Amino acid sequence: MAGESVTDHYARVGRLAPRILELAAAATGGARPSAADLAAFDQLHPRGREATDEVADLVEWRGLARFLDLGCGLGGPARYLAETRGVPAVGIDLTESFCADARALAEATGTEAVFACADATRLPFADASFPLVLTQAASMNIPDKAALYREVARVLAPGGRFLLHDVQLGPAEAPRFPVPWASEPANSHLLPPAAIRGLIEAAGLACRRWDDRTAEVRAGIEAQRRRAAELKAAGRELPPGAHTLQGPEFREMAANLARNLAEGRIVVTTGLFERPA
Ligand SMILES: C[S@@+](CC[C@H](N)C(=O)[O-])C[C@H]1O[C@@H](n2cnc3c(N)ncnc32)[C@H](O)[C@@H]1O
Repeated sequence: MAGESVTDHYARVGRLAPRILELAAAATGGARPSAADLAAFDQLHPRGREATDEVADLVEWRGLARFLDLGCGLGGPARYLAETRGVPAVGIDLTESFCADARALAEATGTEAVFACADATRLPFADASFPLVLTQAASMNIPDKAALYREVARVLAPGGRFLLHDVQLGPAEAPRFPVPWASEPANSHLLPPAAIRGLIEAAGLACRRWDDRTAEVRAGIEAQRRRAAELKAAGRELPPGAHTLQGPEFREMAANLARNLAEGRIVVTTGLFERPA
């Protein structure tokens, strides 16, 4: 939609928590859902829970007092990690309706997770207050990435870790729009992987891992496409998931995501950084 802001873009789908709980209840037979039971619906990034596990497994979680998820969306990854790693979560997001949904879903699942509406480039936290900061699929909407990574470095405790899982600019031409994170180019702020890594290092963090995940994302999309075709041949449809909740326009966004990946217009990277002790 022309002239929409980043938060208009995400808030266009309205409140999602009631619908997510309804869909999860069908799967759990009405029993209280765990955070993992909601993972098919509330992880708004390529490869969902699988990618969250992959990036989370880059660090040791035992003994951490809490962690911070920047641009947490509906809070799905934060709740899932709080539940499966046993570490309380703090999530912040710019979109108010997502923060309200994140809180409602934390209450419904009984997860130890708190959510606040805030800008990742101006964090409402004290210096050195988190041993672990995570961000997935949010930097694409953030123009001032130097400020974002300065804030990550500021709130990280000495020796703390920063995990990143991001869509970034590929070597080919400009991406096709709309995409899941922006209806139009004005809200998309992609940089090439080397530029992102340079900004994080310039903020004072040391790179420990930097991995291109584009092939895995492409394979995941292809597997999903094959499964949908098999089901269609059998007169059935893919089960509901995050894609079902994102409105009718999401079909074109997802198709452009797949084409942008296939054509080298975007790439997906995971990274692990450390604040020197
Ligand atoms: C594609 S969603 C990903 C959500 C979540 N990280 C996940 O993987 O499920 C991107 C999120 O980034 C948030 N966002 C964009 N710019 C932000 C900013 N400056 N500060 C905080 N959140 C932001 C959006 O509101 C949106 O919820």
